[in-house]
Amino acid sequence: MTVHETKPGVWKSGKGKGRHTPKGRQVEDLAWDEIRTLLGGAPRCRDLLIEYLHLIQDKYGCLNAAHMRALAEEMRLSMAEIYEVATFYAHFDVVKEGEIPPPALTIRVCDSLSCELAGAQALKAALEDGLDPAEVRVLRAPCMGRCDTAPVLELGHRHIDHATPEKVKNAIHAGITHAHIPKYETYAEYAANGGYETLRSLRLSGDWEEVQDKVLASGLRGLGGAGFPSGKKWGFVRANEGPRYLAVNGDEGEPGTFKDRYYLERVPHLFLEGMLIAAWAVEAEKVFIYMRDEYPAVLHILAKEIKALETAGILAPGFIDLRRGAGAYICGEESAMIESIEGKRGMPRHRPPFVAQVGIFGRPTLVHNVETLHWVARVCREGPEVLSSTELNGRKGLRSFSVSGRVKKPGVHLLPSGSTIMDVIGACGGMLGGHSFKAYQPGGPSSGLLPASINDVPLDFDTLQPLGSFIGSAAVVVLSDHDSAKAAALNMLRFFEDESCGQCTPCRVGCEKAVKLMQADTWDQPLLEELCVAMGDASICGLGQAAPNPIRLTMKHFPDEV
Ligand SMILES: Cc1cc2nc3c(=O)[nH]c(=O)nc-3n(C[C@H](O)[C@H](O)[C@H](O)COP(=O)(O)O)c2cc1C
Ligand code: SF4
Ligand code: FES
Repeated sequence: MTVHETKPGVWKSGKGKGRHTPKGRQVEDLAWDEIRTLLGGAPRCRDLLIEYLHLIQDKYGCLNAAHMRALAEEMRLSMAEIYEVATFYAHFDVVKEGEIPPPALTIRVCDSLSCELAGAQALKAALEDGLDPAEVRVLRAPCMGRCDTAPVLELGHRHIDHATPEKVKNAIHAGITHAHIPKYETYAEYAANGGYETLRSLRLSGDWEEVQDKVLASGLRGLGGAGFPSGKKWGFVRANEGPRYLAVNGDEGEPGTFKDRYYLERVPHLFLEGMLIAAWAVEAEKVFIYMRDEYPAVLHILAKEIKALETAGILAPGFIDLRRGAGAYICGEESAMIESIEGKRGMPRHRPPFVAQVGIFGRPTLVHNVETLHWVARVCREGPEVLSSTELNGRKGLRSFSVSGRVKKPGVHLLPSGSTIMDVIGACGGMLGGHSFKAYQPGGPSSGLLPASINDVPLDFDTLQPLGSFIGSAAVVVLSDHDSAKAAALNMLRFFEDESCGQCTPCRVGCEKAVKLMQADTWDQPLLEELCVAMGDASICGLGQAAPNPIRLTMKHFPDEV
């Protein structure tokens, strides 16, 4: 007789103790009920995972292990998939068993360049000293797209411009933690001024190629930063069999950029009409708007105005899917944005294939920046001349410069594309009193820093490349004799270090090593240059490829500082 036959219970161990459950974390009934109630009748589709993580984070203030396990069960996903997505995004707080959840209130203090120039570090330190950490936590955060009112922070979902500890204490005292919704042009107001007439007539009898030609004639180029001729993309997408999608890039994460927010908080329907014209042109089956979580007022405005369009019969319910980012700059890169729309980590894809061929759910996808679509509407309504009739320094068109730093009137300034930095500073009323112009970031940290001596170059697509820079999203930050170019470059690399998605070693490790080397009193320039070569040559996407720009331009133009 064998041991197994003499002992009752499970044969494998022979201990007589059968396992009642599968191995691993168990689903807790209460947590499962809570998740089911929260999701209600919403479809359990994988691409909605980030939306559902937001629902849990908003309601419970964090993502605890029991809720994540229950969500995995409910969505028929593995716990590992839920966990890897939740931990990718900065706005989710994953709390494992035995860990303490975050306090009810979170303050995020922006520490990107314009806010740092305006005293963000001192502000953060003062808040940490003056508030009870059991009630309020103070975190650092990247640019919130309000650089013209630096320093800025977000208290719950309330942004505080020109922030001070007093303003924060008053807001906490008054319980003001929700987004302020600015006054904007509503559907009724836009429609009363002829809005959506262009879309209506195009849908009735328009020729998409004529519209494409108009857009090409206007000279409109992608205002997300890459500058690809906008009309051309439509043909590329249409060359692929449907169904096709349109994805709107509202991530606006490049520090210093706030033009998309500027237009969306004032005239959202110009963008919405342009978006529907582009969707019509490529016969998109559905439109996804990917809007950054840092813009709660915009999310509110868009949700409301999309409803108004549905009610007015301009679009079918569900045609537009408004998605909320979750705090990841890299999701502005178009293929990372598509991964995020599919409910995954925002990791850029290898190309080819390009998103025009294989985009959302493997279908051909047209991707456009918010401001690009704003101009599509204006070009269709007012003709290509609205852009092409402006000429300066041999360049045609207009450009919305987001300007911040040491100027008198920071903000969005619509100027000719051929404007130089002196024109931009002039439009801002000149330098702040007591400051003299020293350097400028022409188009976000990816464009690095140029010295004040390079002041006669048009800030347009293609004009800055010979200088080792580019205009990108036209996020201009002006530095003065009070500022250090070396410190500004370090701020930029810290941003890239935080925001690298980490899938390529040269970018993930390179940004981290660069920050270490740049913190030294004297930079090891040959070693930094070697690092720059590796990062530029071997990174998959624009983040890692452009991260060397601030390093190289600072070594070249500000050798005394490094
Ligand atoms: C690292 C990185 C970040 C980007 N961030 C944004 C962004 O926040 N918003 C945006 O519209 N485009 C961004 N882009 C550019 C997009 O990949 C893409 O070119 C753009 O959305 C296309 O639309 P457009 O042709 O209308 O500009 C980014 C690119 C890279 C490489
Ligand atoms: S370059 Fe950086 S951000 Fe881009 S895919 Fe590679 S690791 Fe990610
Ligand atoms: S809001 Fe702080 S740098 Fe943009």
